[in-house]
Amino acid sequence: MNILLIGSGGREHALAWKIVQSKHCSHLFIAPGNAGTSLHGTNVDIGVNDFEKLKAFALDHQIDMLVVGPEDPLVNGIHDFFAEDAELKHISVIGPKKKGALLEGSKDFSKDFMIRYNIPTAAYQTFDKNSIQVGIEFLKTLNPPYVLKADGLAAGKGVIISESFDEASEELRLMLSEDKFGAASAKVVIEEFLSGVEMSVFVITDGKDYKLFPVAKDYKRIGEGDTGLNTGGMGSISHVPFMDDELMQKVEDKVIKPTIDGLINDGIEYKGFIFFGLINVEGEPYVIEYNARMGDPETESVVPRIKSDIMELFMGVAEGNLANRNIEIDPRQTAAIMLVSGGYPEAYEKNKTITGIEEVSNSLVFHAGTKQDANADEVLTNGGRVIAITSYGDTMQEALEKSYTNAKIIDFEGKYYRTDLGKDLEKFIK
Ligand code: AMP
Ligand code: GLY
Repeated sequence: MNILLIGSGGREHALAWKIVQSKHCSHLFIAPGNAGTSLHGTNVDIGVNDFEKLKAFALDHQIDMLVVGPEDPLVNGIHDFFAEDAELKHISVIGPKKKGALLEGSKDFSKDFMIRYNIPTAAYQTFDKNSIQVGIEFLKTLNPPYVLKADGLAAGKGVIISESFDEASEELRLMLSEDKFGAASAKVVIEEFLSGVEMSVFVITDGKDYKLFPVAKDYKRIGEGDTGLNTGGMGSISHVPFMDDELMQKVEDKVIKPTIDGLINDGIEYKGFIFFGLINVEGEPYVIEYNARMGDPETESVVPRIKSDIMELFMGVAEGNLANRNIEIDPRQTAAIMLVSGGYPEAYEKNKTITGIEEVSNSLVFHAGTKQDANADEVLTNGGRVIAITSYGDTMQEALEKSYTNAKIIDFEGKYYRTDLGKDLEKFIK
């Protein structure tokens, strides 16, 4: 099979690494990819939202399957575009159509969905520019911290959590009447604050059945002890020690199954990943958010733990027979540590030479914001999150030690990484 994978982050490098290990993969193309994905296939210089160019490429290169990494093209309807085009409709697409991607693309839709199907989530109400005053009255009924969410995609920046009522009211006004996040904040969800430990649960589904991927925890903030600004993710760990069989059973019964059944009941055909952003509130799972894709940097710790052929799962999704496919999980722990550019998540410089990648042993190196220097045999930084270093271990500590050893070896000007990953989980290890 010829496969076209779209995206350019660490998630896509990890998926590319896994896809080319499959006996079903004849050739992998990655659009646009990064310096890491080019080690496993052919990078193609086309953006993920350039549907017409992707179409021309897919036809020219006899693509059989499109695997969608990021949310943007899903929310913009790439699956619908392929399915509705007479020349493209034979190509299977891993990733939901526009309606299913609304689970991620609209907080208002996803909250309404969860309430309708009795899926545990924080109490909420949605407001628009005609109901700002009602929104402020609603804030008065809540205890701080206040949680405000722009309805649409806002590049991970659309959630505001504030201790102050005055600040929360002002943010609500800025989002609704000053278009703080553009069209994404035409509606705002205000919800109850939940306190607990977060975790990321992933399934792949053909719309009827699902397979569980390994559970992970990601580290969102830039600073040690999970402080400072939010980032795309500073690393991830899989497995998560507090996720025991009892909690997993609750997640399946109260969250995953009702979500799949709800999609069927709403007439939404869903083929792809569902990422459940959960919070464990005293042993009960609540949904913080849905995503219509794999997580990044969770993929970098989760995919290496899948022992079976990932293409078997993708083909099960495409053919609607996922129930007959097997997924085998590696029992070892993994830890992925993200090296980022100095200054990230605020302004940072690019085009710094990356050294030491070839000296890494006992770890996998997944590129995120990197590019090949066109004139020299060098890899350069090309984004905020630069490289994820993933290691296996019989224990979490062993996996972390290997990744941290290699985090010192790979170098570039301004390199930064958190040194405290996993510390918060030690208390859960029995
Ligand atoms: P989201 O984009 O919905 O994942 O929100 C970003 C982050 O805000 C989450 O990962 C949580 O850390 C936090 N968050 C979102 N909603 C809540 C909530 N209801 N209670 C507590 N924290 C929340
Ligand atoms: N790591 C969180 C996300 O991918 O949204």
